[in-house]
Amino acid sequence: MSDSYAQISKKIKDRTVKVSVVGLGYVGLPMALSFANKGISVSGFDLSRKRISRLKRGISYIKDVTGRQIAEAVKKGAFSPTSSKKSLRDADVIIICVPTPLRKIKDPDISYILDASRTLSGQLRSGQLIVVESTTFPGTTRDVILPELKKSGLELDRDFFLAFSPERIDPGNEKYGFENIPKVLGGVTGKSTRLGKKLYSMVVEKVVGVSCAEVAEVSKLLENTFRIVNIALIYEFAMLCDKLDIDVWEVIEAAKTKPFGFMPFYPGPGIGGHCIPADPMYLSWKARKVGFRTDMVDLAARLNRMFPGYVANRAAGLIKRRGKKIKGSSVLMLGVAFKRDVNDLRESPALEIIEKLEKKGVKVDYFDPYIPYLDIHDIKKKPVKLSASAVSRYDMVLLATDHSNVDYRLVAENADMIFDTRNVFERNGITGNNIVKL
Ligand SMILES: NC(=O)c1ccc[n+]([C@@H]2O[C@H](COP(=O)([O-])OP(=O)(O)OC[C@H]3O[C@@H](n4cnc5c(N)ncnc54)[C@H](O)[C@@H]3O)[C@@H](O)[C@H]2O)c1
Repeated sequence: MSDSYAQISKKIKDRTVKVSVVGLGYVGLPMALSFANKGISVSGFDLSRKRISRLKRGISYIKDVTGRQIAEAVKKGAFSPTSSKKSLRDADVIIICVPTPLRKIKDPDISYILDASRTLSGQLRSGQLIVVESTTFPGTTRDVILPELKKSGLELDRDFFLAFSPERIDPGNEKYGFENIPKVLGGVTGKSTRLGKKLYSMVVEKVVGVSCAEVAEVSKLLENTFRIVNIALIYEFAMLCDKLDIDVWEVIEAAKTKPFGFMPFYPGPGIGGHCIPADPMYLSWKARKVGFRTDMVDLAARLNRMFPGYVANRAAGLIKRRGKKIKGSSVLMLGVAFKRDVNDLRESPALEIIEKLEKKGVKVDYFDPYIPYLDIHDIKKKPVKLSASAVSRYDMVLLATDHSNVDYRLVAENADMIFDTRNVFERNGITGNNIVKL
C-alpha cells in the first residue's frame, strides 16, 4: 500500500482530512456545507471573486442554502471560501464541481473542466485524492483530466488518486439532498475507488462503488437520458391528446395506477436547466466519436427542443380563438425559472416562449417570486406585482413554472384566460372555465 493511500485513508478515518471543493455553484456549495456540517474542514475555491466575497459575508446566491448556514460554517472555521488556488495544495481531497455546458454548436464544452484540471495540476502534491463530479462524457476523467494531472510529474496510485462520482442533487427537492441520495463512484484505479468510497461514506448514507470511472460517467448520462426520452414521449402524448380532445393529465393519472412497469412523467412548457438539455448531447457527441448513432436520444432531444415553440403557438392560438388579435395582445407569464421553487434561469423554456410570443407581437410581462429582474439573452424585464387588478389586465396568464408560494386562487379568480402548462390549478383543487390545460 502506498504511503499516500495510507495517509489519506488515515485522515479520512480520524476525520482530519481537508477537503477542497472547486466550483461553488448549485452542486459545489451545498456539498461543501454538508462536509463542513459533519465536522470536516472544507475550503471552497471559485474563480468568481463576487461569489467568494458574498460567501465570506454570509450571503447566499443559491435558494437551497441560507446565508445563515454559510455564515455559521465560516464563523466556526469549518468552511473557508477562497479564490486562491494555493488552497488546493493544502487540501487532501479536491472535488471538482465546475460547469459542463454546451458550446453554441451543441457540442460538449469541457473548457471549465480543462481549466480546473490545469489549475489543479499546478498545485498537485503527493497525498491527494481528486474526485470529479461535473457531468460529462465517458472517458473525460481518464483521457482528459488524468493527462493534465500527470503533467505535474506526480504518479497515479503512488502520489495521487482520481475518481468520478456524478452529482445527483435536485435543487428545490426537500426530501432528497446530498446526504440521502446514494452516491455512485468509480475510480480510474481500484485504489482510487476505494479511497473515494471511504471519503463519501463520511457524509453520504450510501456509496455505490462501480468498477471504473467510465461506468460512473455513463450511469449519470443514462439517468438523465432516461428522463429526456420519457419527457419527449409525454410531450408527444400531450400534443396527440390535444388533437384528440383528451385530457393528457387524466390519462397519466389513470396509467399511473399500474403498480409496476410504469413511471409517470408530466408535460410542461419544455425542458430546462443546466443538465437535462445538455447531458444527452454529451452522450451523442461521444457516440459519434466511436461511429455510433444515438437515434432515440437525438429524436427525443429534437422533440424537446421544439416544445417551447409548440407551447407559444398554442398560447397564440388560444388568444385567437377568443376572437382577439394576437398582435398587440398581452400575456402574463407566471414563473420563469426552469423549474419549481428554484431561482435558476438556465435554459428555461419560459424564456424561449417569451421570445416566440414577442416575435408574434404579443406584449409579455412576468411574475416569479424568485426572479427579481429578468436580464438574459435580449430579454430585460421587471416583474409585475401579483394583484387582482394586475392579473385582470392581461389577455392570458401563461403558467410556465409551478412555484409553491403563488396565490393561484387569486390568479384564477381574476384572469380572463389561463393557459396552464403544469396542471397546477387542478392540482390545487382550482377549476374554472377560464383555465385551459396543456
Ligand atoms: N445544478 C444541478 O442541479 C446539477 C445536478 C447534477 C449535476 N450537475 C452538474 O454539476 C456540475 C456543476 O453544475 P452547477 O449547477 O453547480 O454549476 P454552477 O454554474 O452553478 O456553478 C459552477 C461554479 O464553478 C465556478 N467555476 C467555473 N470554472 C471554475 C474553475 N476553473 N475553477 C474554480 N471555479 C470555477 C463558477 O464560478 C461557478 O461558481 C455540472 O457539470 C452540472 O452538469 C448539476
